[in-house]
Amino acid sequence: MPEISAHELTKSFGPTRVLNRISFTVPDKQLVTLLGPSGCGKTTTLMAIAGFNTPDGGTISHGERVLFDSGQRRNVPAEQRDLGVVFQSYALWPHLTVGENVAFPLRIRRAGRAEVKRRVGEVLDLVELGHRADAHPHELSGGQQQRVALARALAHGPTALLLDEPFSNLDAKLRDRAREWLGQLQRELGMTTVFVTHDQTEALAMSDQILVMNGGRIVRAGSPEEVYRRPGSRFAAQFLGRCNFLTGTARQIADGEYLLEADDLPGPVRFRAPAALQPGFATIAVRPESLLLSEPGADVSGACWPAQVIHTTFLGDHYLHTLRVGAQVLEAVSTRPLATGTVQISIDETAASLVTDDEEEFDNVL
Ligand SMILES: Nc1ncnc2c1ncn2[C@@H]1O[C@H](COP(=O)(O)OP(=O)(O)OP(=O)(O)O)[C@@H](O)[C@H]1O
Ligand SMILES: [Mg+2]
Repeated sequence: MPEISAHELTKSFGPTRVLNRISFTVPDKQLVTLLGPSGCGKTTTLMAIAGFNTPDGGTISHGERVLFDSGQRRNVPAEQRDLGVVFQSYALWPHLTVGENVAFPLRIRRAGRAEVKRRVGEVLDLVELGHRADAHPHELSGGQQQRVALARALAHGPTALLLDEPFSNLDAKLRDRAREWLGQLQRELGMTTVFVTHDQTEALAMSDQILVMNGGRIVRAGSPEEVYRRPGSRFAAQFLGRCNFLTGTARQIADGEYLLEADDLPGPVRFRAPAALQPGFATIAVRPESLLLSEPGADVSGACWPAQVIHTTFLGDHYLHTLRVGAQVLEAVSTRPLATGTVQISIDETAASLVTDDEEEFDNVL
């Protein structure tokens, strides 16, 4: 299944610029996620690839085939793009049965009756709904309807899948199962997939690559580990999970190693950054799990500081603590409850990463 690539896509609705020169590649057989807050342009990007909206500028290609090129005035109609689309609202036709819904993309491509029957059976079996072909959508659960939408997207043998929040209506447990199930199906079919979500857990769990979007731009791209551990900007750090930010003056102590000194912390924090940093103010991001907690007086390698526990929340498999450290309030996690109201914290220096507030700059930082 060939790769999909978009280059310098722009799109405005009236005076509002919704996509601002977006470029990315979805490599062959990979699942790449567009992750970002509501209104950041995820659906607009996906619908541009599908051919349901027309960008103002840029190019979109699928393997060797150019689907859209504003300069060449080329715009391949949606039904000729050979892509399977699951819409955000999953858009099943209520008056058609499950089987008829799935048959629809085959009928518009004028497939023969026998082929339609065979293919509908095949894809409904694939989504484990072969026995519900005669049901109407309202007789199915939300999760089953989303699987019908997926079967419909797969029916005509697309060369890539475009999925817009396909699990949005499922409860937490069903969502987990649906993710595993879809991930396995996507790998088995080797299907190049663009997946849209605003749920960071879903993005981290499912993706080969994540593209973090904000305000019509891609502000960070990389594997789930890369974008989580080195988010690059304050926005991406916060969007991918809980995060502490420490701001102070950075000075270099060795090649690629720096010390951050902050008035509101009891001591300096070491961190690494590959690029040569301009001396001056800097912000580093530290995930709660990278603050290491120990009993007061415990022997810990490296610098550690006293911390006062302000508040603890039990979250099932871990505890989330709000701590006062110097004049800062930080979040940390532990798998066991803390015995006392005062603990020691130390920072895993390999886990502290430089972030910028200005997303335009983030390329220069990484
Ligand atoms: N047809 C349209 N006409 C006018 N504005 C539009 C249209 N479609 C989208 N927009 C605007 O473009 C912006 C991006 O919309 P889009 O649907 O791409 O967001 P999204 O990232 O998919 O959000 P969500 O997570 O809520 O689905 C929004 O501000 C939206 O109001
Ligand atoms: Mg959307």
